[in-house]
Amino acid sequence: MINKIRNGIESIRIFRSFRVRIFLVLLVVGIIPSLIIHAAILSSYEDRAVSVRESEVQNQLKIIANHLITYNYLQNPSNDVVAAELEQISNLYDGRVLIINSNFKVIVDTYNISVGKNIISKEVIRCFKGESITNYDRKNGFIEMTIPINELIMDAESGIENNVVKGVMLTSVSTDTIVMTMTILSRTAWIISIIVFICIFILATLFSRFLTKPFNKVTDAINDVSAGFTDQALAVPDYAETEQIVDAFNRVLSRIRVLDESRQEFVSNVSHELKTPITSIKLLAESLVAQEEVPAELYREFMEDIVGEIDREDKIINDLLELVKLDKTNGTLTIEEVNVNNMIELILKRLKPIAQRENVNLIFESSREVTAQIDDVKMTLAITNFVENAIKYNRENGNVRVLLDGDHQKFILKVEDTGIGIPEESIDHIFERFYRVDKSHSREIGGTGLGLAIARNIILMHRGTIDVESEIDIGTTFIITVPLNGSGK
Ligand SMILES: Nc1ncnc2c1ncn2[C@@H]1O[C@H](COP(=O)(O)OP(=O)(O)O)[C@@H](O)[C@H]1O
Ligand SMILES: [Mg+2]
Repeated sequence: MINKIRNGIESIRIFRSFRVRIFLVLLVVGIIPSLIIHAAILSSYEDRAVSVRESEVQNQLKIIANHLITYNYLQNPSNDVVAAELEQISNLYDGRVLIINSNFKVIVDTYNISVGKNIISKEVIRCFKGESITNYDRKNGFIEMTIPINELIMDAESGIENNVVKGVMLTSVSTDTIVMTMTILSRTAWIISIIVFICIFILATLFSRFLTKPFNKVTDAINDVSAGFTDQALAVPDYAETEQIVDAFNRVLSRIRVLDESRQEFVSNVSHELKTPITSIKLLAESLVAQEEVPAELYREFMEDIVGEIDREDKIINDLLELVKLDKTNGTLTIEEVNVNNMIELILKRLKPIAQRENVNLIFESSREVTAQIDDVKMTLAITNFVENAIKYNRENGNVRVLLDGDHQKFILKVEDTGIGIPEESIDHIFERFYRVDKSHSREIGGTGLGLAIARNIILMHRGTIDVESEIDIGTTFIITVPLNGSGK
């Protein structure tokens, strides 16, 4: 039920505004107490005024009751003093007084309507037993009082004085004046309430605007950033909440900035890397053109250099395309069941000629047969890159050991070499695109600086991890761990 009401309110667009909600809460909180006070004051005035009136009238009636006895009025209703008193009370309170004797007969009625009639009502009977009864008839606006007329009579035998009820006074007094005062009071209270309402309305409007201002500031600041006016970190420290929002936004902003910087750096690296072979080609070609009658051997030599540079350009472009393809098809692996032992043997067979050229020993050791759910083509490319590096950054007559192990969850591949090693401060960077520890050496042996970036992407796509251990001039070990169901599904 509450949820239904809530949904109903939520569906009205204006109630979804934080400011409108604060405004309504302030309005309700401000107005309800004033309405309660209004009602409470009126009702407590009424109670008090009625009880004061009752005791006033009661006192007067008691005095009259005494006089009735003193002047023996019940037997002989013709005393002027009493008549005047009755007159006075009925005038004063706009009321009516009836006096009933012990035979239940009305002997006095200030309205002169019921004289001589008998009244045997419940109240009268109770009153003859000594009880005073007071009734406030709110609806018709009068108080009805029934009070006994007592005479003190001494018991002849015991000598004890007893009150004996000789008659009953039945009185009704109007409460019109009380009602009138209440009407005036109520009107005043309404006027005050309306003034309070207007004040609270104005205050709630101002206050809700004031309270929500910091949130508008946040929106404005974010809009400024998205419109491109600024990319400075925002600060709206007005509330802890706005600070949190802005902090979160700043974190996103700085992440975007980092991404943007790395994108710019990548573009400038690409341009630079692509330009280098072209510059060489241009220099070689120009120096041939500049010379007259160049010997054929020199021509051949320069041309071979030019072909080498073109090959290099081609390799960079191919690696770049590979990298872009990996980024683009992020997550789309062609998973199949692959025998990892066979896969590695094939890779080593393909790399054998390079290893022989570099005089490096290739050793494969496997402690078990491993089959895994992986992308054959991509994983082959990644492992080739690790093994190729181990061959290229090795020393004369060095060794490359490829160790395969695994359990029921993952396989672990170690590529160990006895090469030049990687300086500690470079280990964190070798997976970055175009990063090379020694640019000229890497260039000499045909590196593009993209191999490990590609390999890392592929291993991450398989939800695997890569660890590197390295010591300068002793060797490097890459430890690659890949789950057997490499897609992670
Ligand atoms: N087995 C290794 N031994 C020593 N250095 C290595 C090894 N593997 C990678 N490196 C360093 O990391 C750099 C980045 O490797 P990679 O991305 O494959 O680029 P490259 O095209 O230069 O081989 C290399 O230039 C080299 O300095
Ligand atoms: Mg490489």
